[in-house]
Amino acid sequence: MLFMTRVKVNSGMVKDVEKSATKKYRDDKEGKTVSILSSKGGVGKTTICVSLIDFLAQKGFRITAVDADVNAPNLAKWFDNISDWDKEGDIKIFPLPNVYKKCRDIKILCDGTELPVELEKRGDVYVKEKYTPSFANYSINLISGDIMKGKTGSGKVVEGTIKTSDDFDYDFRVIDSAPGTGYPVLTCIINSDYVVLVTEATSLGFKDLKKLIGIVEKKGVPYGVVTNMDTDPEIANQIRSYVGENYVSSLPYDETIPLALKKSLPPTRLESPSSKKLNEISEKIFSKIR
Ligand SMILES: Nc1ncnc2c1ncn2[C@@H]1O[C@H](COP(=O)(O)OP(=O)(O)OP(=O)(O)O)[C@@H](O)[C@H]1O
Ligand SMILES: [Mg+2]
Repeated sequence: MLFMTRVKVNSGMVKDVEKSATKKYRDDKEGKTVSILSSKGGVGKTTICVSLIDFLAQKGFRITAVDADVNAPNLAKWFDNISDWDKEGDIKIFPLPNVYKKCRDIKILCDGTELPVELEKRGDVYVKEKYTPSFANYSINLISGDIMKGKTGSGKVVEGTIKTSDDFDYDFRVIDSAPGTGYPVLTCIINSDYVVLVTEATSLGFKDLKKLIGIVEKKGVPYGVVTNMDTDPEIANQIRSYVGENYVSSLPYDETIPLALKKSLPPTRLESPSSKKLNEISEKIFSKIR
């Protein structure tokens, strides 16, 4: 869909013209945030995240992509392998902002006003604004948190990264979370309108998934579950019936997926059965957050 703008033409007449800029589907609404989470690492969060970003951006939505896996950020590796952020001319490196917390959240008696929480200068937030990947005809904002090696306090760096991304206009903000159930993950959950929980179909994966579901439900955030590489179909079925209507889909094992990472492309950009499946997963997530 194109949107119209009024411009003056030479004769002084006013004429409606098509403006080919990015669509503004959600102009009248607040941008929505979706986080991709998993209790265990390496189960396909970034794979699903990159596919969702590419899917939504191709539809013309304004996207802010956030890498909140600050101990091992790699979202940008899927987009032209931008790893040396600070060596490129158009990258801005922001110092971490102060993060504001409602004082009632930090359990002291007060009226609920916002207090700045001092962040130690432990890491930086890297921002690539209106970045156009070589394979795409759209631009996105890429925000990546990166804690300095060997330092603690990744939760605060995640808060700072998400806070930095608040400054950008977007229809959808997609956050790639760290694995686990700790404070960095909780920070992603409480900043989200919807979360996607990715799990492997193993008994251990199922146990960890239940723990993560408990946290998400406690925070009242709607969620969907994706199982990846269903090695144990029986457990996959158990997960499916446990999560009921929150079940999104399963992603089959497909060797094209690591190949896409090698080429720094979203896996949906390569012909394979999983690319169709990944687009179906993105479509389902989109139907929940639109
Ligand atoms: N369905 C699949 N078939 C084959 N390989 C896959 C599949 N899903 C993911 N992979 C591969 O598994 C590895 C881990 O995937 P990915 O990076 O998406 O996981 P992650 O949950 O983001 O990991 P981390 O917790 O380290 O951030 C990657 O090499 C990816 O290409
Ligand atoms: Mg990842």
